Amino acid sequence: MDIKAVLKKFLEIYGGTEEDVKTFFAPGRVNLIGEHTDYNGGHVFPCALTLGTYGAVRKRSDRRLRFFSLNFEKSGIYENSLDELEPVLGKSRRWSAYPEGVIWTFMQKGYEIPFGLDIAVAGDIPNGSGLSSSASLEVLTGIMVRDTFGFEDVTDVDLALFGQYGENNYNGMQCGIMDQFASAMGRKDHAIFLDTNTLKYDYAPLQLGSASIVIVNSKVKHSLIGSPYNDRRNECAKALKTFKKAVDINSLGDMSTDQFETYKDLLGVGSVVERRARHAVYENQRTIQAVSALRANDIARFGQLMNASHDSLRDDYEVSCEEIDLLVRLAREVKGVYGSRITGGGFGGCTVSIVENDAIDAFKEHVGSIYTEKTGIEAEFYVVSAGDGVRAV
Ligand code: GLA
Repeated sequence: MDIKAVLKKFLEIYGGTEEDVKTFFAPGRVNLIGEHTDYNGGHVFPCALTLGTYGAVRKRSDRRLRFFSLNFEKSGIYENSLDELEPVLGKSRRWSAYPEGVIWTFMQKGYEIPFGLDIAVAGDIPNGSGLSSSASLEVLTGIMVRDTFGFEDVTDVDLALFGQYGENNYNGMQCGIMDQFASAMGRKDHAIFLDTNTLKYDYAPLQLGSASIVIVNSKVKHSLIGSPYNDRRNECAKALKTFKKAVDINSLGDMSTDQFETYKDLLGVGSVVERRARHAVYENQRTIQAVSALRANDIARFGQLMNASHDSLRDDYEVSCEEIDLLVRLAREVKGVYGSRITGGGFGGCTVSIVENDAIDAFKEHVGSIYTEKTGIEAEFYVVSAGDGVRAV
């Protein structure tokens, strides 16, 4: 997929000439460690991918909005109007709800949008794989709106915040800031060490020596019945409320593991809420340690922390699933694998592993063949590198 294909399609369906069409790209992301910490005021460590969503946009002279995706050609053009954007919280909607949510957010934040837009997009991130195709679409829409209407005070960090705001308040998914932040702020060959409490961030060079990041797509997506993501958020909020009666903290990200051990019984010994909070607190500390390890070129340690992250997400946070656990187990059996874990929101999607380059073929063979044998599904493998954030192309 590339921007030429999008531009060509844009002109085919909407007509006109290339001249007044602007083109952009926003990447997806893979999170290396720091999972389900972003809405707990903790740290995350994602990097932007070179895969993402390409888009073409042109200002209209009326207030209509038109959306077309080359990934959903059969759906045709979705239409709406700047005057009819309505949040529909928590229901699954057509894909254009993501860009609509961002346009709506600009208006909510006081930006006057005088004219509608024609938009065409195409992405090369597999949908629902946990690599943030939706966040990339949101950040892409943000840059389109900023650029088209000249909202120069809107920073790239704002593009991330507006994307999250739209997702939370227009679409009702209570996501944190990680995905949109990585898409907006990514840097080639670096991962982003972000403190979600303060939004302070730092770039860490992804120096993996003779190893690479390998993503494996399980191709399973368990339905989020009863919205388990939002449930996890609520459980963590409950833990925080209880802890606050005893400790001076504003988020679980403020808590040390010693403090957790001292006060954990307040949550009920072995309770669900205790396990959720344990993950949030320990995962945050693991993330901080992992970044130090990477900076000290200690990839073995980084990998151990990734493994511990997965085990905690599987056992305490319960956001993994059988297929993902199988991929992780198989990955860890291969010589030359430093660490392997689920990445993203969970309940399916992808794993991320750090693999020695000369072990990648063996990795694909071992993991791929046994996974297919046991599940009947052909996993997909992507050897990835970190790319830049949102930009004009
Ligand atoms: C999803 C959300 C993120 C983050 C991850 C889990 O990707 O969009 O904000 O919470 O899950 O780490």
